[in-house]
Amino acid sequence: MKYVIGNWKSNQNITESLIWLDELSALRPSFSPELTVILCLPFTDIASFNQKISDLGLPIISGSQNVSHLPPGKHTGEITASMLGELVNYCLVGHSERRIEFDETSEIVALKARYLLENAITPIVCLDTPYLDDQVKQLFHHDVDVSRCYFVYEPILAIGTGKPINSTAANHVASQITFLTDNSSPVLYGGSVSYDNAASFVQESYLDGVLVGTDSLEPTLFASIINSLS
Ligand code: PGA
Repeated sequence: MKYVIGNWKSNQNITESLIWLDELSALRPSFSPELTVILCLPFTDIASFNQKISDLGLPIISGSQNVSHLPPGKHTGEITASMLGELVNYCLVGHSERRIEFDETSEIVALKARYLLENAITPIVCLDTPYLDDQVKQLFHHDVDVSRCYFVYEPILAIGTGKPINSTAANHVASQITFLTDNSSPVLYGGSVSYDNAASFVQESYLDGVLVGTDSLEPTLFASIINSLS
């Protein structure tokens, strides 16, 4: 199985998200049964998006971009894994933007992953080399079953720059992730992925897919990426 995961970040309100789905559907991308397509959305879009993918019969699975590191309780404003359990099957954790802008540590990321798994949501753990070892150590320390996680190698310097690293270098780090976690979980690459480079990453032996930020916002570009991997 191969994977393409879109990450809209803090873009698209409900209306815009539904228009995006109509536009993508009209493009009729060639969805392969060998390709899992996941879109990680703002919390506010998820419920209506789920309804619309069901109405349109599109093989897209929704995911979240974040979750609380706390259990249900007195934490005003937090969205817990238990709440998300009714809405999504996947959730990003540890994206570098959250580490940088919201001071998220590897320990917090591990706690999030643990609550997600307790609620049958697959954590998609984002990693870069400076904290790769520490993050994996924290996952084991907090008894996170890494065989039920997905991993994404996201070199910070390649995110949103239009300058991806080459697929051989990405494959090398992906092999390290597989080795460190000692399992066969999917490992993806993210950072300036577009339709003209997506296939080069997926062809690598240790890479199972791509995570797409900027080019997931535009239906024509996202459809081209789906087509290039199908
Ligand atoms: P990008 O973002 O595709 O715009 O580089 C990737 C990400 O941050 O997930």
